[in-house]
Amino acid sequence: MSGFKGLAVPGPTNMPFEVRQAMDVALEDHRAPDFPEFTLPLFADLKKAFKLENGHVFVYPASGTGGWEATVANLLAPGDKVLASVFGQFSYLWVDMCQRFGLDVDAIDCEWGTGVPVELYEQKLAADKEHKIKAVLVTHNETATGVTSDVKAVREVLDSLGHPAMLFVDGVSSICSLPFDQEAWGVDVAVSGSQKGLMLPTGLGIVGVSQKALDNRPKQGFPKCFFDFDDMLKTNKDGFFPYTPATTLLRGLRASLDMLFDEGLENVWARHHRLAEGCRRAVDAWGLSLCAKEPKWNSDTVSAIVVPEGHDANDVIKAAYHKYDLSLGAGLSKVAGKVFRIGHLGYMNELMVMQALSGAELAMRDAGIPFESGAGVGAAVDYYASTEQSAALAAQ
Ligand SMILES: Cc1ncc(COP(=O)(O)O)c(C=O)c1O
Repeated sequence: MSGFKGLAVPGPTNMPFEVRQAMDVALEDHRAPDFPEFTLPLFADLKKAFKLENGHVFVYPASGTGGWEATVANLLAPGDKVLASVFGQFSYLWVDMCQRFGLDVDAIDCEWGTGVPVELYEQKLAADKEHKIKAVLVTHNETATGVTSDVKAVREVLDSLGHPAMLFVDGVSSICSLPFDQEAWGVDVAVSGSQKGLMLPTGLGIVGVSQKALDNRPKQGFPKCFFDFDDMLKTNKDGFFPYTPATTLLRGLRASLDMLFDEGLENVWARHHRLAEGCRRAVDAWGLSLCAKEPKWNSDTVSAIVVPEGHDANDVIKAAYHKYDLSLGAGLSKVAGKVFRIGHLGYMNELMVMQALSGAELAMRDAGIPFESGAGVGAAVDYYASTEQSAALAAQ
């Protein structure tokens, strides 16, 4: 088939030409004397992207899952208690990892389509008079269900109770796309990966850690080597790594941070909101609903769209892929076959969202899902036409 393939999954996301070009370089010596001239400003700019003032952002040749593992291995000790909640495949997998580490995990089972239950967290933390809970886990954006949770509210609960537990945030599908402020929200750990808001290939696990968490690492922690923060801190301070870094990806990261800062993080967040809103208008006009149970949970990076009873979302995904060269996100685990997902994050503009919406309409027709042709696309057109153009376009 000729023409570009459409990529509307919530990661990996579309890669800007500037980023691809920045990675089209000869491999380089990561121990060269002038390598730190490249890495030290990069580390500083990553802190700006996370809005972290006091602490360090670690960059591992890994993925988001590696970022979770680095967090657990360095900041917790065998048997430590953590408070978590499960409301989708990724919040589930993080809990699963904690359990495999032998942590004592209090995982609140929530309805999929909802998010972090702040009131229940408050009750559990208030009851924990001996401060046995060492960390509270928050999946900021549950990519499987298109649900965003209120990280700041969890910090406020911890502070109002004077509870010393660390706040660990999975920001894999939120950081650099949704409003996020690690310092102001008192987030001790923010985990991300390269293949979503950062618009890069998969291959970097990126972990922002507060100075407080770094200073209070357990003396008798888990065995670790690859992920040891100490080895990274010792070498990163001079601009180097304890082992071979993914230099090509780091060059791409430089380009992606430059693009994000040129647009302005706040504008990037606003663009994501606007793009997502167009998609939500389309879903509404199709007469379908989101997996997110209430508007307060709506995610600006991914919409999980529920197909009517008696239909299989995989038929939509297959038709989109095979007939129209468009990748839509599949439903995972509990919502497999029930939802298809449109990722509207990263290097995206109105027309790219429109492409996904048109492709979804074509594929839904093929799958026999009843809706009025063009209704969703029309609703998105109306919304985009009557609201402000993206910051990038307006600037031209
Ligand atoms: C919210 C969230 N957390 C964690 C992960 C796992 O990250 P990775 O696949 O980069 O290991 C993902 C992947 O999609 C995710 O969306």
